[in-house]
Amino acid sequence: MASKPKLWSGRFKEPVDERVKRFTASVEFDRRLAKQDIAGSLAHARMLAAAGIISKRDLTAIERGLAQIRREIEKGGFQWSIDAEDVHLNIERRLTALVGEPGKRLHTARSRNDQVATDLRLWLREEMDGIDGSLAALIRSLIGQAERHAALVMPGFTHLQVAQPVTFGHHLLAYVAMFERDRERLVQCRARLNQLPLGAAALAGTSFPIDRDRVAKELGFEGVAENSLDAVSDRDFAVEFCGCAALAMVHLSRLAEEIVLWSSSRFGFVKLPDRYTTGSSIMPQKKNPDVAELVRGKSARVVGSLMALLTLMKSQPLAYNRDNQEDKAPLFDAVDTLKASLAVFADMIAKLVPQPRAMRAALAEGHATATDLADYLVRQGVPFRDAHEAVARVVREAERKGVDLSRLPVATLKRFSPTIGADVKRVLTPEGSVAARDHIGGTAPAQVRKAAARARKRLGK
Ligand code: ARG
Repeated sequence: MASKPKLWSGRFKEPVDERVKRFTASVEFDRRLAKQDIAGSLAHARMLAAAGIISKRDLTAIERGLAQIRREIEKGGFQWSIDAEDVHLNIERRLTALVGEPGKRLHTARSRNDQVATDLRLWLREEMDGIDGSLAALIRSLIGQAERHAALVMPGFTHLQVAQPVTFGHHLLAYVAMFERDRERLVQCRARLNQLPLGAAALAGTSFPIDRDRVAKELGFEGVAENSLDAVSDRDFAVEFCGCAALAMVHLSRLAEEIVLWSSSRFGFVKLPDRYTTGSSIMPQKKNPDVAELVRGKSARVVGSLMALLTLMKSQPLAYNRDNQEDKAPLFDAVDTLKASLAVFADMIAKLVPQPRAMRAALAEGHATATDLADYLVRQGVPFRDAHEAVARVVREAERKGVDLSRLPVATLKRFSPTIGADVKRVLTPEGSVAARDHIGGTAPAQVRKAAARARKRLGK
């Protein structure tokens, strides 16, 4: 395609260097904002016409041209060109080619600075709504598993050492709590993002009698950004979104790490469906949890995007600086990575098959009911510190005998505290242990079922 002069080339004596042109162009990546750019232009043009800044006929031509451009882009026939730098100028140039002078009037009372800030907010807002749905789907998968396995006992860990019995359902609901907060954070971030930059123009506002509320309303913004310098320059909404996304990825990464551990032959707590594992090119016996490992790995990229955007903003003087063109790659990547990770995880979680025997075997090795024995003694009037001490000695005895504490005969236990009776045996089973933690937030199966029901209700249907 032949080089055309830039839309802003009026005051320049020589054409821009080829390398500079390529270096500064963003159309290769910001064409992702085309749909939002057109929506923003339409709202702007309608406002200009309503305020008498352009004529009704200009508006009709602009609407017709933008509708055609939208179709061309959807069909893949639109000719993107780096000669026109970015998505905004590509569309504006095509509009003028299609409808003539009215196309040249569209940019009245506007700048690419408030335009790009608007496009990006519109784009991110839509993506956030999709991500919210994906988080909800993942939460639904987790709740489904938690309901099915509300009473399935497994070791709970601290320091990755067997600590106390918990139920698989309770364990999964911990992630439900995390992902619910991730949704909440996104909702709050969305509300702060949802303010219209258009009208700020390049940085100082415009001398035309614009109606920003009208544009805000048409584009679904809650209100207008109050300060023009801020509106065109800050990308805190993108930073904040990446913060939300990074946290969600960190939560996914923790779950991924557990799936890697659980599906290893050392743990054997869950089986992954074959279609979520991959083989090794050299070791025929392998079935690797690559999906979980990749999600764990991809969390690094989203944390990286957050760092990139924070660093991008850090030393920028007011108002717009071209640095901000670099906000797109990290933001797009964070959105894509989070979306892909959530989608693959929701289904994988739904298909996890827990292995009760392996869980129980692990529980029988770690003296997991030691705290239950101490609590039993406390209920008989022994002060907790003394009970703790007595049980520590019981554990030593069990270790010496090479058995789990729950296997020691009542007669042996009595040597450490004479008040111990036959009823202690029930207390020392994993089922007795979890059933005893019967309060809100506790791991008793009855509580897990109630918690799952509450989480389902919060999901709405
Ligand atoms: N492509 C630019 C960006 O992404 C659009 C704004 C350009 N504004 C300017 N004054 N050069 O930020």
